[in-house]
Amino acid sequence: MPEVPAASLDPSRPIRPSDQPARLAALVDAVRARTDLAPEAGIVLGSGLGGLADQLDEPVSIPFADLPGWPAATAPGHAGRLLLGRLAGRPVVMLQGRFHLYEGNDPGLVVQPILLFRALGARLVVLTNAAGGLDPSFGPGTLMVMRDHINLTGRNPLIGPNDGGLGERFPDLTEAWSPRLRERLHAAGAAEGVPLAEGVYVGLVGPNYETPAEVRMLAALGGHAVGMSTVLECIAARWVGLEVCGVSLVTNPGAGYTGVPLTHEEVLAAGAEAGPRLARVVRRFVADLADLGTR
Ligand code: HPA
Repeated sequence: MPEVPAASLDPSRPIRPSDQPARLAALVDAVRARTDLAPEAGIVLGSGLGGLADQLDEPVSIPFADLPGWPAATAPGHAGRLLLGRLAGRPVVMLQGRFHLYEGNDPGLVVQPILLFRALGARLVVLTNAAGGLDPSFGPGTLMVMRDHINLTGRNPLIGPNDGGLGERFPDLTEAWSPRLRERLHAAGAAEGVPLAEGVYVGLVGPNYETPAEVRMLAALGGHAVGMSTVLECIAARWVGLEVCGVSLVTNPGAGYTGVPLTHEEVLAAGAEAGPRLARVVRRFVADLADLGTR
């Protein structure tokens, strides 16, 4: 197995695009030492969706600590493991407990799980997250298919030398959120009797929730939901040619809409309530991947 030096375990240490291939080779070796399952899809489980991991058949669970260069996830409600197995009969890889910028992780580390999905053979990713509602009609428990995003983190995983052959210098994001996969998410929601909204996700660095003035600004900019993840993952996924879709679980109205302060407990409680509904949608989406075809 290629050596990853101990110093690389500092999660804030810059990882440039050209550093990723060697990192990924070590990660792939670590996974392949445990399973040869070739996933079709990668799924990032946001707050509330962790229960989907329990639905995996013949799961192989790899704690982050056993993956070279990965720190244990620290956000409350995030378990920190990579899982491979079958969901509704189809081979998938899941990330339970993503890396966030607000934990001090370098953007290159934040997106490494997505790059690993690709290196393991996945063709598409499903990104999920907990988010605050910017659209005043989005109450707690609203499930929003992401149609597009606005990256306001001020960070980007693709900055730096890009000679590693993973993807091009200037990736196009015109249809970053795949129209055909969005349609399939809506079809899965309809089949499960789960209503799905659609909108634009705004990604900020966090970790504080927004001020009421920021919420008004983000809504005026065209956002429908706001959170602290996902946008860098989408960018990296498109960079390496993964097709992307995803759903935000709206856990609370944006700050200032209700006049009551936000708490992390409220976010976790709404995630726990709506998570099983989202899990049904994602499971059905995966079950129906058989007839997707390739592109
Ligand atoms: N803002 C940012 N991130 C969030 C929120 C919010 O209101 N709710 C859940 N994640």
